[in-house]
Amino acid sequence: MSNYSIDTKCVQGGYTPGNGEPRQIPIIQSTTFKYATSEDMGKLFDLEASGYFYTRLQNPTNDMVAAKICDMEGGTAAMLTSSGQAANFYAIFNIANCGDHVVASSTIYGGTYNLFHVTMRKMGIDFTFVEPDCSDEELEAAFKPNTKAVFGETIANPALTVLDIERFAKAAHDHGVPLIIDNTFATPVNCRPFEWGCDIVTHSTTKYMDGHGAGVGGCIVDSGKFDWMAHADKFPGLTTPDESYHGITYAEKFGQGGAFITKCTAQLMRDFGSIQSPQNAFLLNLGLESLHVRMPKHCENGLAVAKYLKNHPKISFVTYPGLEGDKYYELAQKYMPNGTCGVVSFGFKGGRTAAETFMKHLKLAAIETHVADARTCCLHPASATHRQMNDQELVAAGITPDLVRFSCGIENAADLIADIEQALEQV
Ligand SMILES: Cc1ncc(COP(=O)(O)O)c(C=O)c1O
Repeated sequence: MSNYSIDTKCVQGGYTPGNGEPRQIPIIQSTTFKYATSEDMGKLFDLEASGYFYTRLQNPTNDMVAAKICDMEGGTAAMLTSSGQAANFYAIFNIANCGDHVVASSTIYGGTYNLFHVTMRKMGIDFTFVEPDCSDEELEAAFKPNTKAVFGETIANPALTVLDIERFAKAAHDHGVPLIIDNTFATPVNCRPFEWGCDIVTHSTTKYMDGHGAGVGGCIVDSGKFDWMAHADKFPGLTTPDESYHGITYAEKFGQGGAFITKCTAQLMRDFGSIQSPQNAFLLNLGLESLHVRMPKHCENGLAVAKYLKNHPKISFVTYPGLEGDKYYELAQKYMPNGTCGVVSFGFKGGRTAAETFMKHLKLAAIETHVADARTCCLHPASATHRQMNDQELVAAGITPDLVRFSCGIENAADLIADIEQALEQV
């Protein structure tokens, strides 16, 4: 499907039925697969033949959906995971071990920050966090001899900062390591990070890709562009024999295009088993079929809401990278000229109480921890995800007590604004 537009890939990528086969992707609801001889099975275990033997590692339904996302991102190989958290964990852990170091943007999603800063630190992997708009010198200073990757989000959740992908890719490549980008908020409909030098993309498919709040999931896509062998000493897991897998050297056997995902499946999926259920993969595929139609509507509504709030007397600030005058507007225009996402953050002149009063009176927009859904939802981080922090701690974390994260769905923009308007009247 590589010559088709993203629209066509969303609808038809990943699965082409043969004569008389189902038009919709089949859900292979089976943990296991039958073989005639132990020899046949042995070939699969040795990675000598491709095929399925146990759904903890791989499942055909998942692979069809992963192939679609791979096509949409312009990659060479992809795999689904049980969640976005699993995708980011695997993407890093596939190349960074105990004693290694990773450079990451400081404005990444809080769950990913916790995964890196707390849990992966316990595993002996060190992280240095840099502001996405740090100077070149600050970025350079973050690297160490044991750095194995650079990580950031195209549009950060909930800070809505935009990563300068080319700049971060250059810094990563100057140090012989790949750039990994979580492309959840932009989706490949609005930005394809591989076109700007990124090497590996991750997704929380739970968000826009699923789009209907139906299934938690994740995805990892490899661009196939990073030359592991050229930096063989940094990535022994890919460039030397894997004794836990019959002495296979992934980069030799599967080449630049296949090594990363094969290793990730053969080792990490085998050992941790964070597989997406085939049922969820099927639901995800339904979401993907309309992603190219939904994203422009999310962006249209996001921009309309941001413009409305920008000049409202009760609003203290509006953050939306698609809004002219936003700190990240120029970067957003470069990397996402057709639109950014549907999420808008804003604050209240009346502070925390005003934010809480506003939220209470919304009728269409539901209060949820979820984001990036067809139905508009919103969150007051100070009373939800960050409620353990006092006001000073919130400011230090970049989340003011009055901040509301408003995720515009695909309803009618005028209806959303009317809902906001009536809730603002109560403030
Ligand atoms: C940008 C981003 N990455 C990763 C995640 C984690 O994804 P999941 O909730 O699917 O584990 C989230 C969740 O909100 C997110 O917004």
